[in-house]
Amino acid sequence: MEFNAPRWPPEWPELLDSVEKIIRSGDWGRYHSPVCDALSRALRDWFQSDSIRLCCSGTAALEIGLRAAKVGVGDEVVLSAYDYPGNLRTVELLGAKPVLLDVEPGKLSFSADRLRSLAESTDAKGIRAVVASHLFGDLANTPEMRVICDRMGWVLIEDLCQSPGASVQSAEVHNGNGVSRNESLGVAGEIDPQQLMGTFGHLTTLSFGGSKLLSAGSGGALLINDSRLGARLGTWVERPGDVYSMSPLQAAVLIPQVERVETMRDHRNEIWQLLRSERLTRYSRWKWLGGDCPHSTTNPYKVAWLAESAEQRAAITGAAESIGLPVGVGYRSFAKLSDRRCRKIDPCRSAAALGEQLFVLDHRALLIESQRIDELLAALDSVYAKVTGV
Ligand SMILES: Cc1ncc(COP(=O)(O)O)c(C=O)c1O
Repeated sequence: MEFNAPRWPPEWPELLDSVEKIIRSGDWGRYHSPVCDALSRALRDWFQSDSIRLCCSGTAALEIGLRAAKVGVGDEVVLSAYDYPGNLRTVELLGAKPVLLDVEPGKLSFSADRLRSLAESTDAKGIRAVVASHLFGDLANTPEMRVICDRMGWVLIEDLCQSPGASVQSAEVHNGNGVSRNESLGVAGEIDPQQLMGTFGHLTTLSFGGSKLLSAGSGGALLINDSRLGARLGTWVERPGDVYSMSPLQAAVLIPQVERVETMRDHRNEIWQLLRSERLTRYSRWKWLGGDCPHSTTNPYKVAWLAESAEQRAAITGAAESIGLPVGVGYRSFAKLSDRRCRKIDPCRSAAALGEQLFVLDHRALLIESQRIDELLAALDSVYAKVTGV
């Protein structure tokens, strides 16, 4: 058996048009181009952000965001014990200490309850910011986290690098404390039935790296939802040229992708839901992670499962590779990080298990045409049979 994953990055005609225009205009060789302004506008309109800063990567966006939040030596930043490793390194680079919360079992993020307990502890004085990542299609409860951060004077940074286009219904925002989104965000007027993830953080990072749903090979953006934070950025980033700049060519390939983002999201979601509905009957020994967020619409990036053991995970990736199924391993967790480098609030057992057993089916597989779903299931079935003997 051989699985033929759909092509990514795509070769859409409008991508070719957009790049051709930039070449013909000569903007590809200039410092400033209207195409970068057009991308900023498209992102600002999409997320209704106060302002946008395009930059060279999602990691750079976090660094800029942490600096805007005035995070520096001796401060603390809350992170998940299972997260993109660059997020932790960026916190450390600024001389701040990561404070690690464990992920919830069956989820890929820490809960608002864990953050609330930390806020209510006597150990919260040094905390300046919280980074909450939406990983592999699972959504962190940033609406509720924002309420906690506002109360504590912490800056909430949403990492939306993997999930641009995911949204949540206001019902979820009416959390256990009876707090509505309007109250929590201080926004007057009607409650929006679907609010985009990335609009809850004071700041939000996006990545346009090579594996991402919106890709320019590399690139990123910081969405600024709080004007006081935005005002601090200019002097730091512009010296006098933008030290983290995005090129016009990158912006040119991103605009057509932003225009198609909802169509692509809906297609991936259809395949994701099909897999989700098959998960218990066909792949019951693998634990489906994430995507079970009530009232929300995710934008699936990768499908994450927990293998039964680290050995089984290695067998899964080997078997998948042999038939061309795009499967890989997740991140290493921060559970074993020394106490010198971080402050662990929990024993981080769930994060440790993710680090050893999590594997992901790449988003390219989710781009398969609906009528080819049987090919994807057959490929997964064959891997499952090989490694479980079932
Ligand atoms: C969740 C998350 N955050 C941040 C990043 C960093 O983005 P970049 O590679 O553009 O620096 C990534 C990239 O893989 C990511 O997956």
